[in-house]
Order: sequence, then C-alpha cells, then structure tokens
Amino acid sequence: MNVEKIRQDFPALEKWTYLDTSFVGLYPRQVRLGYEEFLDQWMRFKVSESKTILEEWLDKANKVKRDIASFIGVRSSEVAFTSCTGSGLNIVVNGLKWNKGDNVVFPNWEHNPLYTATLRKYGVEARPVGICNGRIDMDELEEKIDDNTKLVQVSQVSYVNGYRVNLKEVAEVTHEHGGKLLVDSTQAVGAICSDYKRDDVDFVSAAPYKFLIGPAGLAFLYVKEENIRDLIPDRIGWKNQIWEGDRAEKPPKDTDTAEKFEYGTIHFEGVYGLEKSLEYLNKLDPRIVEKRDIELSSYLWNELKEMEIQMYTPEGTKSPIVSFYEGKAKEFSGWLINHNVKVTGREAHGGHIRVSPHFYNTKNDIDVFIERLKEWRQLS
Ligand SMILES: Cc1ncc(COP(=O)(O)O)c(C=O)c1O
Repeated sequence: MNVEKIRQDFPALEKWTYLDTSFVGLYPRQVRLGYEEFLDQWMRFKVSESKTILEEWLDKANKVKRDIASFIGVRSSEVAFTSCTGSGLNIVVNGLKWNKGDNVVFPNWEHNPLYTATLRKYGVEARPVGICNGRIDMDELEEKIDDNTKLVQVSQVSYVNGYRVNLKEVAEVTHEHGGKLLVDSTQAVGAICSDYKRDDVDFVSAAPYKFLIGPAGLAFLYVKEENIRDLIPDRIGWKNQIWEGDRAEKPPKDTDTAEKFEYGTIHFEGVYGLEKSLEYLNKLDPRIVEKRDIELSSYLWNELKEMEIQMYTPEGTKSPIVSFYEGKAKEFSGWLINHNVKVTGREAHGGHIRVSPHFYNTKNDIDVFIERLKEWRQLS
C-alpha cells in the first residue's frame, strides 16, 4: 500500500491529523466523482435508449447492491437500501411477529438499542447484558438467551471501545434457542472483512459513512434469504405496495427478495457515491485495509499503555478503535481541534477518548496525537 500516494486522494489530510473515522470517515476525491456523475446525468438528463432517468438510477442501485453483496459475502437479493442504520434495525424489529413473554437480548452499550415502545406494549421483555472490563460479558449473554428469546442484537464492533464480537459464536447460541441474530455493523464494515453467510447471521444493518468512506443518508440492510418471506415490511410505498393501485402494468413486488423492504425513492446521489467508495476499497484490497487498521490501532494501544494510561479497550482487541479513560474528555477533544487533531471525546462511562485510525493514517499521525496528549496532561 502506497500510503503517501493514497493520502493525496484525501484533501482533509492536508490540514488535519484525522483519527476519527468511527465518527465520520473521510472522502477521497474518487467518491466526489460518483456524485458528479449523478449530477451530470440529472442536469443533462442523460438517459440511454428508451430508459427513464428513474430506470437509470434503479439500474445503478441494483449494480451497487451487487457490489455491497460481494463485499460482505451475501447475495444481492438479500440486500435492501435504507436511509440509516436505525432504519434497518426498525424494519427488523417491527417486521417480526411478537408475543407476550418473548424477550430480546442486547449488550447495554448498544448504540441503537432495539427495545421499542411497541415491544413494551406487546409485553416483550428487555434483557440487557452487562459489560465487564471493556468486554461484553459473554457468559451473561449466553445465560440470558433462552427459548423465549426472539432476537439478539449486537454491534460487530462496539462504538464505545472497539470491542469485537465473535458473531459465529453468538449466532450459534441464538439459533440453538430458535432466536434470530441482528447485527449493527456500522463500526465494522470497511475496516473488518466480514462474511455474514459464514457467520450465519440473520440480519445486518450498516451505514457506510464511517470506515466504508461512503455517503451519509444511505445505508443498507442484509436479510438472510430464509428470513425474507416471514419478515413483514413495516412501511409501504410505491416501491413495495402489495395493493395494485393505479399501476396495473406492474405486478405486486416479488416477496422473495429484500427489495420488498424498500418503500420509496432511494438516496440515489449516495448510491453513486457508494459505488466509488467500494471501488476504492476493493482496489486497495479490504484484507490489506483490515491488516493496516489493526496495525495502527495496536501501535496506538501499546504507546498509550507505555504511558501507563488506563485503557478502556481490552488488550489484544483486533479492531480499528482504541479508547482510554480521560477525565475531561470533551474539553481535551475540543482543545485538540484547535491543534487540527480530531478524535472523539465522550463524557459517558467516566469520560473517555476514542481514537480510530483508518488505512489513510500513518504512525506519524499517532505520534502527533500522543505528543498532544502529553502536552495536555502537562497543562491540566
Ligand atoms: C454502532 C453504530 N451504529 C449506528 C450508528 C449510526 O446510526 P444511524 O446510521 O442510524 O444514524 C453509529 C454512529 O455513530 C454507530 O456507532
């Protein structure tokens, strides 16, 4: 990987020591070309043969769905576009059939916990799982899953400290009891190579604007083929209506593909941008990206440990996120912005700093951060 050359694709790096991809990823120039293609097509009304512009957009959406599918090891018929991670999670939760006495199990640090007012109304029990030394307590998770567990929700990589879940293991326990596993992979996709078929996950919801260096306002939902038929779309529009309405020329939507969860106009600009993000990462090779991200985060973890800092991220965590405890975390991250260094400072969990390098970072970026941290500690 020619990092110096890669860095020239990211204009933000001219100014910033940017170590905050778990907040928002950076755009390379190539992604801008995707947006420009979309704008040019619309502004000039460029269509081929007898197609409408909507057909052009939908063709592109289908193509990018295939790209996503091969990126995460699933079939394109199992992928639906949504608007954000939460949208995909809601489609799953609202689309399942719930009975009084069912329960849902999730770590209590989930970013978007799925326990909704509707579930409470149905008499579904929430079973949050505790965190112990920066790790999900897997024994507790297993204990809380029983034959009434309809759904288990986990983030593949925790947004808090990068803790990485063994999805295959959780899927096995969940399935032994007849439940389904729903994964939020927003902090994983683009950084960690995943194969959700191999891991036997039921549903995955992800937004591409972090490690996938893609657009905001567009996200995707994977629904394993065997779950598509039974999951009822929780919202209806022209794209998935079962009532024939005034479009007699089109039969009701096929119910065997995840497209049935798309109900209206997609964020097509984002689709054009995402095509370029995936192209960019595929060219680099996602396995090399993962290796590099983990190398950088391990380097950072060791540097911090050498300073005798209290780490929030457990030792040996193979993820792109490193967190450590810091009292005035928000104040510190604000001070860093004034020095063109970007990380996340959060007051939650006693105050912590979250640093998340991606392939476009260097060890030098991490050294710059460490120097600023030492300076801050002397000042405060
Ligand atoms: C784990 C995780 N899921 C989801 C999101 C974002 O959710 P949404 O795409 O619904 O805005 C974030 C944002 O930081 C996140 O860290």
